[in-house]
Amino acid sequence: MKVSEPLELNGVTLKNRFFKSAMSETMAKGRNQPGEKHIRLYHEWVRGGAGVVVTGNVMVDRNALGEPGNVVIEDEKDMDMLKRWAEKGTEDDTHLWMQINHPGKQSPKTMSKEPVSPSAIPMGDALRSAFNPPRALANDEVKSIVERYVHTAEIAKKAGFTGVQIHGAHGYLVNQFLSPHDNRRDDEYGGNLENRMRFLAEIYEGMRRVLGEAFPISLKLNSSDFNRDGLTEAESLIVVEKMSEMGLDLIEISGGNYEQPKMSTGTDSEVFFLDYAQKLKEKVDIPVVVTGGFRSKESMEAALKKGHTDMIGIARPMALDPLLPNRIMSGDYEKITTRRLTTGIKGLDEKVGPAVGNVYYAMQLKRIAEGKGTQQHTNAWRPLLHLIATHGPQALKPKRRKRK
Ligand SMILES: Cc1cc2nc3c(=O)[nH]c(=O)nc-3n(C[C@H](O)[C@H](O)[C@H](O)COP(=O)(O)O)c2cc1C
Repeated sequence: MKVSEPLELNGVTLKNRFFKSAMSETMAKGRNQPGEKHIRLYHEWVRGGAGVVVTGNVMVDRNALGEPGNVVIEDEKDMDMLKRWAEKGTEDDTHLWMQINHPGKQSPKTMSKEPVSPSAIPMGDALRSAFNPPRALANDEVKSIVERYVHTAEIAKKAGFTGVQIHGAHGYLVNQFLSPHDNRRDDEYGGNLENRMRFLAEIYEGMRRVLGEAFPISLKLNSSDFNRDGLTEAESLIVVEKMSEMGLDLIEISGGNYEQPKMSTGTDSEVFFLDYAQKLKEKVDIPVVVTGGFRSKESMEAALKKGHTDMIGIARPMALDPLLPNRIMSGDYEKITTRRLTTGIKGLDEKVGPAVGNVYYAMQLKRIAEGKGTQQHTNAWRPLLHLIATHGPQALKPKRRKRK
């Protein structure tokens, strides 16, 4: 199986197996609307040749941001810019899918005085100084957030995006509803897995209703939360099975949350979450994208050949080299390395590691959008200073738990 082979998906053709995973651009200005930089960045990724390009997470509520500079789509005010984004992002038969998200309690202090969550469960000790404790959503608020997801998806389709992705991973609101740790509700949205899944299922059903049968709807899901009492692997498999029965078109597999950042550190293998994908493939017949850790053509083609994944999810390498898929397909490519950034001070690296990493990659996205070359280095100081400038000195406060 080659990375260049097309994939048929519910009546649409994806031109190859490259799936550029979501990376939050953090470039939105003013009312958190998209702008020229988004258009230039996505056009570069189109030039790069991936079959599917997923946007960074687009938020459904202006009052609930995950980071400064998130795009928010609540209404049609920015339709002209959205149409241009979609037009440039779908050139050359590229699929451009909008990732739709609400951060729930993972909205930092600098963004939310009182974030919301299924239940009033604060972040763990290690991150408590950076996030205000959440309040539990009322039942009617849950229903109105479902409508927000659906409405944002409807606007995406109207603008010309060719698919959507529900962000159900990485500890954000959908993931919080799924997690027995975060969700202690006693209404129809809490308790057993069927109830904890209801928020996700209603979002999916609402989207399907307004988007129609032929429009790709995908879900990014954690293989596991990697928390003692979070979503387990066994439950995650059941979620995929049920969503597949409901008609979901594709599942992207990741893992972890802010407290257990496995999405960027992985498990033991070079490519993260492949074991899970293998189990999933035995159980459920749905196109799967595994994301995390793909760096060499050999590992990509081996995973496709073994049938563990149908597409290759890649994020950070696409921030270092936006033309990567075409380079791989034309043979003009050496294995890309994503190195760990360091300040040279071990204690400081432990405190701010993943956050600094994300800022560094977001800085590369800005450089691509500005037509500048990307910078590959391991010096953490510039992204760290940028982090402090955006979030204040409390960015240095959270202590990360040592990884096991
Ligand atoms: C700067 C940055 C921003 C990210 N933003 C998102 C996001 O908005 N939504 C999402 O699902 N994942 C996001 N991710 C995670 C990636 O999609 C991906 O799951 C992770 O980086 C592992 O893949 P990789 O090893 O190919 O980078 C982000 C990662 C980075 C580095």
